[in-house]
Amino acid sequence: MIGRMMEDLPGLMPLFQPGTVWLCGAGPGDPGHLTLYVISALRQADVIVHDALIDPRVLDFARPEAERIFAGKRGGKPSIAQDEICDTLVSLARRNLRVLRLKGGDPFVFGRGGEEMLALAEAGVPFKVFPGITSGLGGLAMASIPATMRGINQAVILATGQSADHHTGLDWIALARLNLPVILYMAVRALPRIADQLIAGGMAPETPTAVIENATLPDERILISRLDRVATDLQHSAFGPPALVVIGEVVRLREQLRRLAFQAAREAV
Ligand SMILES: C[S@@+](CC[C@H](N)C(=O)[O-])C[C@H]1O[C@@H](n2cnc3c(N)ncnc32)[C@H](O)[C@@H]1O
Repeated sequence: MIGRMMEDLPGLMPLFQPGTVWLCGAGPGDPGHLTLYVISALRQADVIVHDALIDPRVLDFARPEAERIFAGKRGGKPSIAQDEICDTLVSLARRNLRVLRLKGGDPFVFGRGGEEMLALAEAGVPFKVFPGITSGLGGLAMASIPATMRGINQAVILATGQSADHHTGLDWIALARLNLPVILYMAVRALPRIADQLIAGGMAPETPTAVIENATLPDERILISRLDRVATDLQHSAFGPPALVVIGEVVRLREQLRRLAFQAAREAV
């Protein structure tokens, strides 16, 4: 069916030229969020260099003979060095292959896509970019949590929570003062210290907080808590990566919607 769909869009889908790299985002996880460009890339690529966040069902769109190269973190082992990934992309392109570099979410949101694009440009390798839906927005939307909501917030912060230390990471105390919803990537490990610092910066301890594990995937889990309790709740529920953390009043919308849906279901009986 997908093949037919592509044939129905003549001229829309660019031709994947040999010797080029396409740097693509696969979206938050569920293959339904792939763009037509990325499906087209999967169907034309000779080799796919992908990260750990790519769902196996996404790779099923590739030609069976396409080579798949895993370039992500596995079981907590150190990930392949970024330089090595860049060198691999360059050398595959120089072998005149159609190289698809496929990343979870969007390559340019905490995805090191910028570094890869620079490396390709410096090596003189032609490339194209096709963005994906970043998990921090798509994953939230699928969990009925709007990133912005009229009357609640006029801006939103997307941040990496890899480090709670302001020497190596963000100044969480200053960030708390902005009083904006914060969407955190890679924050599971450092969440207890991040939450403490946000509260120290003036964020209300009872601020609604959600954690979304495996967003958009069949094994998705969602935890609703509050800022001062989320770290403990997270520990008790054994949540792990990949997970997003959302801190802010926008989280209440999910509960409100669920209550309304429940009420409507009861009234329908
Ligand atoms: C290295 S970052 C890559 C982000 C990606 N480029 C994006 O735009 O979504 C990895 C982090 O993204 C988040 N993430 C990506 N996919 C996710 C998913 N399906 N569910 C929950 N979190 C996800 C997690 O915080 C994870 O630790």
